[in-house]
Amino acid sequence: MSYILGISSGFHDAAASVISTNTGEIVFAGHSERYSKQKNDPHIHPELIEDAMQWDITSVAYYERPWMHNVQKLRSGQYGLTPWTTAGVLKQELGEQARILDNATVSCYPHHLSHAAAGFQTSPYNEAAVVVIDAIGELDTISIYHAKYDENGNATYKRLWRQRYPHSIGLFYSAITNGIGLKPMEDEYVTMGMAGWGSDLGAVAMRHDFFKDISTGELRENLHLGTDKIHFPKYNDAVNSISAKKENVAACAQRVVEEAILSIMRRAKELVGSDNLVYMGGVALNCVANSRIGAIFSNIWIMPNPGDAGSSLGAAALAYRKPLQWKTACLGHEIPGEYPVRDIVDKLVTDKIVGVASGRAEFGPRALGNRSLLADPRGDEIKDRVNEIKRRQKFRPFAPAILEEHVHEYFQMPGNFSNSTYMQVVARVKHPEDFPAITHVDGTARVQTVPNDGSGFRKLLEMWYVWTGCPMLLNTSLNIRGEPMVNDREDADRFEKRYGVTVCS
Ligand SMILES: [Fe+2]
Repeated sequence: MSYILGISSGFHDAAASVISTNTGEIVFAGHSERYSKQKNDPHIHPELIEDAMQWDITSVAYYERPWMHNVQKLRSGQYGLTPWTTAGVLKQELGEQARILDNATVSCYPHHLSHAAAGFQTSPYNEAAVVVIDAIGELDTISIYHAKYDENGNATYKRLWRQRYPHSIGLFYSAITNGIGLKPMEDEYVTMGMAGWGSDLGAVAMRHDFFKDISTGELRENLHLGTDKIHFPKYNDAVNSISAKKENVAACAQRVVEEAILSIMRRAKELVGSDNLVYMGGVALNCVANSRIGAIFSNIWIMPNPGDAGSSLGAAALAYRKPLQWKTACLGHEIPGEYPVRDIVDKLVTDKIVGVASGRAEFGPRALGNRSLLADPRGDEIKDRVNEIKRRQKFRPFAPAILEEHVHEYFQMPGNFSNSTYMQVVARVKHPEDFPAITHVDGTARVQTVPNDGSGFRKLLEMWYVWTGCPMLLNTSLNIRGEPMVNDREDADRFEKRYGVTVCS
């Protein structure tokens, strides 16, 4: 058996994925940050590669072309260049473990193509429109492909349209994030949460201030030039025109970015003529915007790790070319043992809050039940108690995880979405007064629907439902404040000591 190792690194959130060349099985996919304990760690951690090297690696695929990355940096006035060759970059990233390159073939792929492949080759479709929207990848910022498998079963990607740096929907949103005092390329989800509290009355003015053509993402000026920090030259004008309240700025930006995304989606639908959409790139993490796409495409697949970390899987997919076997997002470091269903339910009944660290870590930004802090979602006091542990901004809601067959009793799902297995859309809460902890100020929740897949988390929800009559739990990530999600048992022990909350394994 031989395996392909895909790597993404160097910008933010480095990751590694391993696939079997015999079966297309994804045998491993993990984030560097979970090993180094540094959020969004851009560099490959040795222990991540140790985990990946359990398999016989015969090929290494890198998620972008290093020389194009340097060209992009020079174009944006940044001069901290990295090696120009793939071998050079990999040697630098892998350090001593670069020895795996001795007996492996090495390849690299265009940045947006890696996003596209991570989506299409894990999707259930034989052909699809593939839309990639991120802040900046090499020089591309928006791509539309028509993807399909040829007569030999190999994935093919025909690019039909693109937008290039400095015109970028993602950079616009990051610039706003920076402008309201948050961290760009990291806190965009906080901006999205803040938007629910503001008024979007100034959205037209903001769109005019920033965009020359919203339908193509063409900006009036470069928001990024000359520094690795993002400029926000129009911020004052925009704020003056919509009042300076941060929540209003976030709400306007959210509305503008949704309008831009929907324009791109309509363009993709027209150019490709397919009802299947594969949507990738960091902007695809905006679950409020995602909820509106269901009105355009009937079938939508967003791989649960659509940003650059997920492109480690995309690079491996491009080297493989055939469809990958997608079964679960739990593909990372393993904490062995049976999922502790009974222990968790016991603790929930007595304490209302419990942690769980069991099985393989989630690949992607969302805790889906294997590295989660869980709570009884009913009643008034639970949100404050979870917030006390998480110490996060009051405007951000917690997510509910619900047995999939009960979702319509409690939530109004958006557009063509009947489920949300990976917490990728928001839905209207039907009984917000009963579930204040999982209801955002705008009456929505970022739902996780849990299918009947035999997973431990599914069994937990089933038992919780039998015991309480409530088919959902509050589900938030298990992490010590300021750190990435818990990875191994030692992290879980530290969490338990720090917060006095039992973590079941
Ligand atoms: Fe990207």
